[in-house]
Amino acid sequence: MQAWVIGNWKQNPATRHDVNALLDNLLTEIDAKAQANTSLLGSHSDRHCQLMVAPSCIHLAEVSTRLKHSPVICAAQDISEHSANTGAYTGDCSAKQVADSGATWTLLGHSERRQYHSEAHDSLVKKLTHAFAQNLRVVFCIGETQAQYDNKQTLEVIDTQLSVIKDLMTQQPELVASLANRLIIAYEPVWAIGTGKVPTVEEVSKTHAHIKQTVAGFASTADNMTVLYGGSVNAENADSFAADAMIDGALVGGASLKAESFLAIANAFEQAHS
Ligand code: PGA
Repeated sequence: MQAWVIGNWKQNPATRHDVNALLDNLLTEIDAKAQANTSLLGSHSDRHCQLMVAPSCIHLAEVSTRLKHSPVICAAQDISEHSANTGAYTGDCSAKQVADSGATWTLLGHSERRQYHSEAHDSLVKKLTHAFAQNLRVVFCIGETQAQYDNKQTLEVIDTQLSVIKDLMTQQPELVASLANRLIIAYEPVWAIGTGKVPTVEEVSKTHAHIKQTVAGFASTADNMTVLYGGSVNAENADSFAADAMIDGALVGGASLKAESFLAIANAFEQAHS
């Protein structure tokens, strides 16, 4: 199964200059690795790890244009829940606008959106509907808080968050057949994001097995859903996550802002999946 390593740039970098510098570094390193044949990352035919980056909305068009002929996919971090197209929704960016900018994927349900923008079930069902209507594919983020983890509620919380997918399948059964192609789940314990704290690989593995089983119950076509781990993944710990068969890749925040650490993580998954 192909691995995925996705960089969530969040509200970074601050300037177009710095965005382009990060892209320069990323593309130069990928080219150098392909030339030196030290990694398969640069070779389209034999690649085992797909790379993706999610810049902020303001940089989306520029980044997607620069990545067009590269092995890196461009994703948005969010889309409007109110309309897939246009409308009087100040500050929002629609799925259509995102797709028109050249992005082919969007993150949805990231814990920072849930926390700072009160995103929850109904709004996420709408966002997924709009994304799929505009042929955007979705990285759907789920995960428990520290208190929920301490109370051993992880699976319960995840089941509630995954019910968004179940409801979507009930509302739009025509999507069931293509669910596995349109969707990736990213399991990100909130307490591990940006903290340097990580669950054990065994914990992540068990949770991923649960997620795969649950989603397979919604759509028989999704019997091996791609499930990524996110939360303080870095160049040092990537190998241990990559070695587990239940962990299909990583959603990376802080370490994706440096080409070197982002590609070291990608390389760990590339090696483990080749
Ligand atoms: P982190 O962020 O890698 O900085 O912990 C991950 C994320 O928020 O997706």
